[in-house]
Amino acid sequence: MQVIRSIGKIQKLCREVSKRETIGLVPTMGYLHRGHLSLIERAKKESGFVIVTIFVNPAQFAPNEDLKKYPRDERGDIEKIKKAGADAVFIPKAGAIYPDDFQTHIKVEKITKRLEGAVRPGHFRGVATVVAKLFNMTRPDIAVFGQKDYQQAAVLKQMARDLNFPIRIIVSPTVREKDGLAMSSRNRYFSNSQREEAVCLYRALKRAREMARKENVRDIKKLTSAMKRVIRSICKAAKIDYIAFTDFDSLEPVKAVDRNTVCSLAVRLHGVRLIDNMRMH
Ligand code: PAJ
Repeated sequence: MQVIRSIGKIQKLCREVSKRETIGLVPTMGYLHRGHLSLIERAKKESGFVIVTIFVNPAQFAPNEDLKKYPRDERGDIEKIKKAGADAVFIPKAGAIYPDDFQTHIKVEKITKRLEGAVRPGHFRGVATVVAKLFNMTRPDIAVFGQKDYQQAAVLKQMARDLNFPIRIIVSPTVREKDGLAMSSRNRYFSNSQREEAVCLYRALKRAREMARKENVRDIKKLTSAMKRVIRSICKAAKIDYIAFTDFDSLEPVKAVDRNTVCSLAVRLHGVRLIDNMRMH
């Protein structure tokens, strides 16, 4: 597996590879877990040459967020990516991605206003900008993102459509721990007892899905209060940023649950902010 650190080299490699094979791209910020690795496996199924990128993107962190303490393990990551069967890993330096005179950003307008976008202004502008740059550098045929960050995937699909990137965006299912907690690099911040409480997001989503599916409850208010009760019963200190029911494709809020509804939530537990989501049918 090739480890590439310069933009010029990745561009050259991709130009050559694309003459004979399709390219699959898996952008990450490193500190990889099984969730990330599942994206690499998916990319391998869908393309001939898989490139994983590791870049902790400063543009998507607000000044008060965890950029500095974002966990890093480049050596471990390279090993994992190799084992997962990728063909190349691209690890650029921040100064190369954002030189001093950098001044162009991508802003996806509407669907970035809700959910994560409402709580984290500027976040998706940073995500869209770096992913557009990675798309331009690697010119992939497909790119794989996780359902875990469902709004991010929707924003990037919209961007690809709006800017005519000839790239198929694939959204791959959320990989969970045994108890249901969605895998995330942030889970490591918890002590053992806190970690047990982190399952409250998954349990709340599962309860709502069960009510919608089996008990035919479609009323958002009822589902939301049931979810809040589940969260409180597991973790008294939990602070709920939002619980939202939206259409899977448009991200528009829905009044009643239907076949295409997804529920997303963000909860702060012991100073760690977790997000999760689930289709209700
Ligand atoms: P990062 O948080 O490292 O995630 C990289 C990819 O892994 C994203 O597509 C994310 O949705 C996916 N992922 C994370 N946890 C997952 C899980 N438990 N199951 C399945 N997929 C999971 O998301 C980012 O980085 C950045 O915003 C990035 C797109 C790289 C742009 O900087």
